[in-house]
Amino acid sequence: MNRPRPVTVPEMMSRKGGEPLVVVTAADFTMAKLMDGTGSVDALLVGDSLGTVVQGRPTTLAVTLDQMIYHTEMVVRGTQRALVVADLPFGTYHESPELAIRSASRLLKETGCTAIKLEGGHHFAKTIAALVASGIPVMGHVGLMPQSVHAMGGYKVQRDEHKVIDDAVAVAEAGAFSVVLECLPVDLGRKVTEKVKIPTIGIGAGPHCDGQVLVGHDLLGLYDGHRPKFVRAYDDLKERVRDAVKRYSADVRSRAFPSPEESFH
Ligand code: KIV
Repeated sequence: MNRPRPVTVPEMMSRKGGEPLVVVTAADFTMAKLMDGTGSVDALLVGDSLGTVVQGRPTTLAVTLDQMIYHTEMVVRGTQRALVVADLPFGTYHESPELAIRSASRLLKETGCTAIKLEGGHHFAKTIAALVASGIPVMGHVGLMPQSVHAMGGYKVQRDEHKVIDDAVAVAEAGAFSVVLECLPVDLGRKVTEKVKIPTIGIGAGPHCDGQVLVGHDLLGLYDGHRPKFVRAYDDLKERVRDAVKRYSADVRSRAFPSPEESFH
């Protein structure tokens, strides 16, 4: 069977203003293989949101670079077509552009992913430019930045137009190939999308972005924690999991499982 042609960074960039980009997060081989196998996803993001939906932590702050490498490597192994982007976790790029290059190089070399994402606007333009100059494709992330949850006073809609636009423009001018816009009013999502020359990928930033991203566990209705307003769950897998495990338990207790067909004779 022919391998599907992988989505490239220039291809993602060429979708500015065109058919919306489809991005979803994944954190392991099985999920990546299922999602990528649909042939409908442009990019798989190994987001540090895995700190909450996989590790059960209250924030993303404790996720380490080694953990991101562990998860990204599995996702890459399950992916043939989608562009795989991995988050640089908190504290692995803040100190200096040199540290950012070291951390991002580890992600690319040890996992085979194609690009990294980092949270931050104007203040991180130098870092983004240094990464891009080193041949590392960067996806930016402005608006609500979950790694700055304490500084931002919680997970809130970001309404400071001047700051958000300034951040997105700085990220684009520094050479990022796309930028995530998180938790913006619809009108601000539109304004940023019109202003920057790279594709914007929205999460809670309205319908005018050049693409959308959802956390895979939210999209599938698998995560049982807080569900933000911007999430649309396309299934309720947590209920299906509970139901399957209850039926298995009942079958074991009644000795209906295993059947003769499921046994060696
Ligand atoms: O960590 C993550 O999953 C993300 C997306 C929500 C954009 O950054």
